[in-house]
Amino acid sequence: MPTELRSRITGTGSYVADGVLTNQDLERIVDTNDDWITERTGIKERRIASREVASSDMAAAATRNALEMAGLGPNDLDMIICATVTPDRQLPATAAYVQRKIGATSNCASFDIAAACAGSLYGISIADSFIRTGRAKHVAVIGVELLSRVLDYKDRNTCVLFGDGAGAMILSADQGESGVLSTHLFTDGSLTDILHIPAGGSALPTSAETVERRMHYVRMEGRDVFKYAVKYLADAAKVALDANAIGADDLSLVVAHQANIRILDAVSKRLGISLDRFILNLERFGNTSSASVPLALDEAVRGGRVHSGDTILMIALGGGISWGSAMVRW
Ligand code: COA
Repeated sequence: MPTELRSRITGTGSYVADGVLTNQDLERIVDTNDDWITERTGIKERRIASREVASSDMAAAATRNALEMAGLGPNDLDMIICATVTPDRQLPATAAYVQRKIGATSNCASFDIAAACAGSLYGISIADSFIRTGRAKHVAVIGVELLSRVLDYKDRNTCVLFGDGAGAMILSADQGESGVLSTHLFTDGSLTDILHIPAGGSALPTSAETVERRMHYVRMEGRDVFKYAVKYLADAAKVALDANAIGADDLSLVVAHQANIRILDAVSKRLGISLDRFILNLERFGNTSSASVPLALDEAVRGGRVHSGDTILMIALGGGISWGSAMVRW
């Protein structure tokens, strides 16, 4: 009897710009210092894309890398899902630009999703659903952010945390034992205001006043986000472990959203999983929101930290507040 269809991650890719913004550079821009940023966040530097680069350029580069690892061409894709809160434009979807830039034909459905830093996990969950039901064979799930375009470099509470980047994963239909074992997604819409961009959407369209009041930039209640991040990331991990009857000790690797080393440290303690088993790259890239998990996964794969048969837990949380998990057997 044939085993059930699963989606397996057959390729990963990433892209970060060459431009590096260090904590020392930030000392010259806002009232901050390397010691504060390092101690409170673990971040030392982040990448900033140059002015002519759009999110779709970074996403296309990451997707090409992922397709190459999967041994696939652009026309093998049935779907391109682009998770981003920094799209090229309000209209059309950034995924459509990615489709054009990688040279995929119209046999591919391309759309964006906005679940902030949890976006790539929402993307995996959607791709997994299409693949399991036989409606797609190969899906590109991309997380991309050009956060430097929506950061207020006069606001030290936010501008030190984030960076630009892209990560991509190719999910392919398979019938083996490996692949996506589960996904779980959550949102608490009562917390929309603790991490948001007030203006530039239908609720508050762009006007001279909104620009004057710097309302097109990210605003955040850092302490609240911190508190919910620790709780909900740990909860999401527990739900995923329970759903798969997997013990924390059986996890090979945790690929968590790279927001803050103190958040990850607290989550690791709550779960009883040593930080050694977490992929950590926030020191070099900061928080790249939707790109964070696929970028970290790609580094882990290319760095030889992922082996066949490994059990990998991905967890992420961001604006919404939205969060979730994906459990994967490699
Ligand atoms: N440099 C120096 N001082 C800073 C600063 C900076 N970049 N940012 C804030 N401060 C100051 C504050 O103004 C405050 O000063 P005060 O005591 O004189 O009022 C002091 O540092 C403490 O601020 P607080 O916000 O309590 O610090 P914190 O320990 O909570 O750390 C964050 C701030 C933002 C690092 C932390 O709350 C955090 O990481 N939150 C989660 C953010 C996040 O991950 N968001 C994305 C989720 S996807």
